[in-house]
Order: sequence, then structure tokens, then C-alpha cells
Amino acid sequence: MNGTPAVEVMGVSRDFDVSRPWLTRALAGEPRRYLKAVDDVTFAIERARTFGLVGESGSGKTTVARMVVGLLSPSAGRVRIDGVSFTDPDSAAELQRLRRRIHMVFQDPYASLNPRWRIERIIAEPIRAFGLVHSNEAVAERVDELLDLVGLHAGDRFRFPHEFSGGQRQRVAIARALASSAELIVCDEPTSALDVSVQAQILNLMRDLQDRFDLTYLLISHDLAVVRHMADRIAVMYLGRIVEIGNTRELFLRPRHPYTQMLLEAVPDVSTRGRPDAEIAGEIPSPIDPPPGCAFHPRCPLAFDRCRQEVPLLLDGVACHAVQRETVAG
Ligand SMILES: Nc1ncnc2c1ncn2[C@@H]1O[C@H](COP(=O)(O)OP(=O)(O)OP(=O)(O)O)[C@@H](O)[C@H]1O
Ligand code: SF4
Ligand SMILES: [Mg+2]
Repeated sequence: MNGTPAVEVMGVSRDFDVSRPWLTRALAGEPRRYLKAVDDVTFAIERARTFGLVGESGSGKTTVARMVVGLLSPSAGRVRIDGVSFTDPDSAAELQRLRRRIHMVFQDPYASLNPRWRIERIIAEPIRAFGLVHSNEAVAERVDELLDLVGLHAGDRFRFPHEFSGGQRQRVAIARALASSAELIVCDEPTSALDVSVQAQILNLMRDLQDRFDLTYLLISHDLAVVRHMADRIAVMYLGRIVEIGNTRELFLRPRHPYTQMLLEAVPDVSTRGRPDAEIAGEIPSPIDPPPGCAFHPRCPLAFDRCRQEVPLLLDGVACHAVQRETVAG
């Protein structure tokens, strides 16, 4: 398996049927309507690395995440984890092994932690479900070890989720991910509900655990400061497509796609400190009826004729006719 990326997302698309009820459609003579939430997305994540996915609300980030963890199947394309696809595992055992390796951490862990269970049971559940340890003593020992790893106390095992703060609950969610010996953790806005100082603690914890256990992260955030701090590589999504992908440093230093440039301008950094955030001009169009050609053209200051007709391909990490024209000219 060495050399195989931990995650490969290959030409993945996902449509949702958003038609109105059939009778309404029949009476109005209306066809079925589909929403393309994710359109031909390709990226890979190397083992023990962090890949960041950014983009405005509705750009398809969560849909990508759900396909990576196998909660949702792609309408087209393939997702492979350690070279194995959910849809064609060699055997049931392989699928079980795959499921154990992947874990998802959500923005609001409260929704994913059973409110009636004590922390002990919440963390022990994946250990028991995957049959990782057998005796009750061994399970209890492992729960203690996990609580310690995420910076909680042994005494916390008897408490319920509502007795914890948001940051502590996120620690419990991370302990639960480690409990199944997950190697790939998909984090969907893991810290966006937290205060800035708590956010930093959780991100630092995630980095420590990554170093210790060679964890691979797919990190979704609309907060560019978070992905910049955490990710080795970043993909910027707009209306279901990747518009730019590259190394974090390079992308922040020299954003090439007009949309990435706008996103970065909207973030206060050293040079703009003290200024209010710049607004990104224009609204995101509807993914049910996206603009033809480059979906960004109604908001793009560089748009020209070709942009309104032809979808730009992702070439050399950027999907933009203007950038590609410049590259050819230069
Ligand atoms: N189950 C579904 N049925 C219909 N449409 C859906 C479904 N899930 C997502 N969508 C649509 O797909 C598009 C992408 O949604 P998604 O949740 O992936 O975006 P996102 O980038 O995660 O946004 P946010 O930043 O708000 O979380 C949106 O237009 C959304 O309304
Ligand atoms: S393809 Fe055209 S509209 Fe799209 S980002 Fe590039 S210049 Fe702007
Ligand atoms: Mg989302």
C-alpha cells in the first residue's frame, strides 16, 4: 500500500433530485429537476497530511466529505481509500476494515453524541463495535487512555455531553474517532462553532494527534485562517467544482484564480489588519440553474466572451480561461 495516497477522489460528481412531487409536475408539465452539488472533482490526499477544502456556503464541501466517508455514493466517478473503493471492495472484510479507518467529526458534535449516554459509553462504543478490545477492563483502560490523549480527565467519563463546553465536546468527538483507530479523519467545520481561543486549542490538539498517530485529515472550513494554519494542500470550490488547487503556501502567496483572489482579499491579514473584511461581490448563483460556461463569470472582473460559453478545465491547478490565456501568451 505504500505510495498509494490515503484518499483518491477521481472525477466525482453528485446530483440530487430536487423535483417537486410528481403530481404537481404532471399537472404543470414540468420535467424532473436535478441539482449538481459536486461536479467532476478530483484530488488526492497523501497519508499523514492535511487537505483543506474551502468555498462559500453551498459550494459542495459537505457533499464531498460525505462521499469520502462513504455516507453518500457518487453519481459519477470514484472515491478510493487506501486504494480501495466503497463500491467495489474485494470482500466484506475489506469494507469493514475501511469503515473502521475513517471517521467524521462534525461542526456540532452535540448532534453526533448520544445525549443519554455517559462519555464512557460514547467512547467505548466504537471499541466494542469493531471488537478492538474484549474484556471490560481493557475497554475501560482504553477509554481512560483516550480521555487523556484529548486532554480530558478520567473523571469525565461519568458525565453526559450536556455537561461539557463546546470545545470539550469536540474533544470527546475526537476521542471517539481515535477509539476506532481511525486513520483518516474528515472534519467538517470542526471549530467554527467555537470561540477563537478554544478553536486554537482544538486545532493544536488535532495537529499533535496527527504527528503522534500519522493521521490523515480532510479539513473543511470556510475560515481561510484555519485551513492556512492546518493544511498542506488546499482546494477552493465554487458551485460544485474545484477552481484552484495547490500547496497552501503557494496558494496564499500567489492565488491565481479570480475567485481565490477575492476570497483572500476578504480575509484580514497582516497587511490589512484593522480594516473591516472586504465583501465578496455578488451572490452565489443557484446550483439548480448554474450560469453557462464558467459559473463564476457573473461575479468575475476578468470575464470575457469565452467564459460565458465554455467551462474552464482545471489545468495546472487552476480552472480559468484568463489565467490559461496569460500562461499561453507569457
Ligand atoms: N440531500 C440533498 N438534497 C438536495 N440538495 C442537497 C442535498 N445535500 C446538499 N444539497 C445541495 O447541494 C449543494 C451543496 O451543498 P453542501 O452542503 O455540500 O455545501 P457546503 O459547501 O457544505 O455548504 P456549507 O458551507 O453551507 O456547509 C447546496 O446547493 C445544497 O443545497
Ligand atoms: S474563466 Fe473567465 S469568468 Fe471564470 S474565473 Fe476565469 S476569467 Fe473569470
Ligand atoms: Mg457544509
